[in-house]
Amino acid sequence: VKALQVAIDGPASAGKSTVAKRVAHDFGYIYCDTGAMYRAITWKAMQSGVALDDDAALEALLAKTTIAFRAGEPEQRVYVDDVEVTQAIRQPDVTNNVSTVAAQATVREALTKRQREIAAAGGIVMDGRDIGSSVLPNAEVKIFLVASVEERAERRFKDNAEKGIHTPIDVLKEEIAVRDKKDSTRKISPLTQATDAIKVDTTSLSIDEVVARIDEIIKKA
Ligand code: C5P
Repeated sequence: VKALQVAIDGPASAGKSTVAKRVAHDFGYIYCDTGAMYRAITWKAMQSGVALDDDAALEALLAKTTIAFRAGEPEQRVYVDDVEVTQAIRQPDVTNNVSTVAAQATVREALTKRQREIAAAGGIVMDGRDIGSSVLPNAEVKIFLVASVEERAERRFKDNAEKGIHTPIDVLKEEIAVRDKKDSTRKISPLTQATDAIKVDTTSLSIDEVVARIDEIIKKA
């Protein structure tokens, strides 16, 4: 069977990475978390004192930055120039600044190029905001994962609790809404459902149900 490209897009905290990892595992595909790449360069810019809306400075920074994924338990680990940033890039300071960095033209151009290289051979599940609409327009399977903002805030609240982060649920709801607005209204490749993507609303579905539904779609593709 042919090794496909599977694009999974959607708003913040819709469950993309959890589902994408499971689906990749089911087919023996690689999993690529493109949000982690935007988070990684945001983390490095914050460390380096580079302004988060200075596209030229960010481009120069990115040119000398290695972002790598390595296998790890229970999760894939993320490295920036050999420093492990798996936890650091999920902290609220990065989360609340990443959309500013992700709106910069040359940052998107550079990361899109890296993402296309990673996906070129197929056999990949890539999650993000613009994978089906821009990074991999010819992906054989495109999923647009959505859930109500209340449900997403609750999921994020539970995830955070496990990481020792205790942001109140109302604050999370507001942060998610703000990030979605920024990601959907930016000029370059905004968050949008590709015309040929299949929408899956996960609000009242379990993870198992969502994975089963997507696995079926892939088998039929
Ligand atoms: O998926 P995650 O929440 O980790 O993504 C973090 C941020 O990275 C998003 O809010 C968005 O600003 C940016 N992003 C993007 N394009 C992608 C993936 C993520 O702009 N393909």
